[in-house]
Amino acid sequence: MPEFVEIFEVGPRDGLQNEKRQIPTADKIALIDLLSTAGFRRIEVASFVSPKWVPQMADSAEVLAGIKRAPGISYAALTPNMKGYERARAARADEVAIFGAASEGFSRANLNCTIAESLDRFAPVAEAARADGIRVRGYISCVTDCPYDGPTPPAKVAEVAARLRDMGCYEISLGDTIGQGTPESITAMLEAVLAEVPAPQLAGHYHDTAGRALANIEASLALGLRVFDAAVGGLGGCPYAPGAAGNVATEAVAARLAALGYETGLDLEVIVRAGEMARAMREGE
Ligand code: HMG
Ligand code: MG
Repeated sequence: MPEFVEIFEVGPRDGLQNEKRQIPTADKIALIDLLSTAGFRRIEVASFVSPKWVPQMADSAEVLAGIKRAPGISYAALTPNMKGYERARAARADEVAIFGAASEGFSRANLNCTIAESLDRFAPVAEAARADGIRVRGYISCVTDCPYDGPTPPAKVAEVAARLRDMGCYEISLGDTIGQGTPESITAMLEAVLAEVPAPQLAGHYHDTAGRALANIEASLALGLRVFDAAVGGLGGCPYAPGAAGNVATEAVAARLAALGYETGLDLEVIVRAGEMARAMREGE
């Protein structure tokens, strides 16, 4: 039996949050409904952040209300603070994600606060979610390199990962936000994080700016990671990370994993169609 590796589809959130054009809500819903037929277990579809900061995600509640929820799929949303959490709960997100950083420069640019302050804001979100029976995922951005502060010390990533674990995150997704990681720097970072959090509770979230995301996934597989975030069509980036290109494309990850002998449970034909649909949403296409 081939070993299972899960791709967590983040295209409707990480992919679309960065588009300059306001994508019609109906188009987002159509993309998510197609993705719901591809075999994913988790799809990140919404982000309850400030609409002034990320106007592209302002319709997140309408998106969650409009999709056809397929049984067995967890529809996830980003929640930076209690206000975001309350909105996500009202919109019936199946799980939420708190998202911090391992570099102060990025924390300031993305969340307008220090790493310590961001963790203080996440704690009540994690507590409320636990009380409500909603799973919480954690993200850490800039796990190898930061567009403001340069290289990130692996020990800092491990420290933030331990804090998110202590808050009850069921999984921590490690973000190479600007795609500057290499198999060597990803390995060094993972070795530090694995001393705090075991591989089954970690995910790799690699942007493909320098074309190394697939190599970084292979380096992570070698250290036991079995969950990777990806976006159909390779869309996206982060509005607060200048130069950040798209997430690694789901199609490419699924193909590489298949070539390496892993099972993803995904329908490649559907993914390719979804990738085409996502790319067509891009400005100017
Ligand atoms: P702030 O301005 O410091 O917040 O922003 P504030 O608490 O002072 O509030 C300012 C205004 O925003 C107030 O409204 C609040 O009510 C409102 P006003 O009184 O001015 O009318 N507000 C909200 N409205 C709706 N939903 C909310 C919310 N919170 C406050 N949740 C804040 C702080 C965190 C809100 C802001 O910095 C923010 O929204 N940041 C999000 C940035 C973002 O979404 N970045 C992209 C996602 S992260 C990413 O892509 C990385 C990842 O993919 C991993 C990787 O690749 O590394 C996950
Ligand atoms: Mg990202």
